[in-house]
Amino acid sequence: MLSGDPGRNDARPDVAVVGAGPVGLAVAWRCAQRGLRVVVHDPAPGSGASHVAAGMLSPVAEAYFGEHELTGLLTESATRWPGFAAELTGTVGAGIGYRTEGTLVVGLTADDLAEARRLWSYQQGLGLPITPLRPSALRDREPALAPRVRGGAVAPGDHQVDPRRLVAALRTAAERAGVRWRPAAVGSVSEVDARVTVVAAGCGAAALTGLPVRPVKGQVLRLRAPGGGPPGFRHVIRGYADGESVYLVPRDSGEVVVGATVEERADTEVTAGGVLRLLRAAVDLLPELAEYDLVEATAGLRPGTPDNAPVIGALPGRPGVLVATGHHRHGIVLTPVTADLVTELIVTGEPDPLLAPFAPDRFGPTIEEETCD
Ligand code: GLY
Repeated sequence: MLSGDPGRNDARPDVAVVGAGPVGLAVAWRCAQRGLRVVVHDPAPGSGASHVAAGMLSPVAEAYFGEHELTGLLTESATRWPGFAAELTGTVGAGIGYRTEGTLVVGLTADDLAEARRLWSYQQGLGLPITPLRPSALRDREPALAPRVRGGAVAPGDHQVDPRRLVAALRTAAERAGVRWRPAAVGSVSEVDARVTVVAAGCGAAALTGLPVRPVKGQVLRLRAPGGGPPGFRHVIRGYADGESVYLVPRDSGEVVVGATVEERADTEVTAGGVLRLLRAAVDLLPELAEYDLVEATAGLRPGTPDNAPVIGALPGRPGVLVATGHHRHGIVLTPVTADLVTELIVTGEPDPLLAPFAPDRFGPTIEEETCD
């Protein structure tokens, strides 16, 4: 159990967070709100997976076969997002691009639609809110969809946020709550002097903890609507197009994020083939995107684990060391719940039952993995 002691005169932090992505920053912010002295170590805050991420908050459309426990955590975190977004926005006085128009899942061909339908039937079977739409209803919602899109469904509770604005807001909120910064890389957890250390370093956590966290490459494009206006569609669109899977995320600024490849690789090169596949699928679904400017092509590394679920909790055999990593495709949506549960664990010493399926010891002894640096 850890509590802040404002009368203490030593400078030792209560909590050191290694990694200033959304998860690390949110943990730092929450801990500082509880009166703990917090320091965050990162030479380049916000430069990891979140810099590339699209920011879909998709507990429904990303509920996959065999991932029940992960789906439960995604759903729990999604319910915390409205309050989290409102509190953060109110604290810093700046928006984070949180939008609630919902998500459309669409299939271009009959085969694509069959694949999409199989997944949404599974999601409906779990009681998740996703509703098939007639093609006319789909077009009423998004007239810019290609006429040959065969059909789709709406997941009204799958929202979005802008991860770059989220990171900026979390940095400000954390700073205002008293968090301090150490802009240097941490080579080993033993270098960190704090009562509790939280490793929230994405796939860099593998080298720091020995946990089986592997980099999973994703290439992502950013387009911009011509003329400085907003994009010609408002929902997040997740599409299947001639066997390719793509998502399109419109921002008020005119930006459209097009993602993402999923590659079992550890490099961050942008390839012609990756860009071609993403653009072809995007333009097949929304032809007007061919007229947009292509303003950015980047690749990031998701922190994947053997069961694709995060690793959150006490590191076995390392008293005082917690981990919060392995968020793979879901780092942004899982930020609020991860921050709340890690903070409770630090303050009370007791893991919330929600954490049981995500404990670091579920993979057995730690092993060496390919890392992202
Ligand atoms: N959650 C989207 C992605 O990882 O590409």
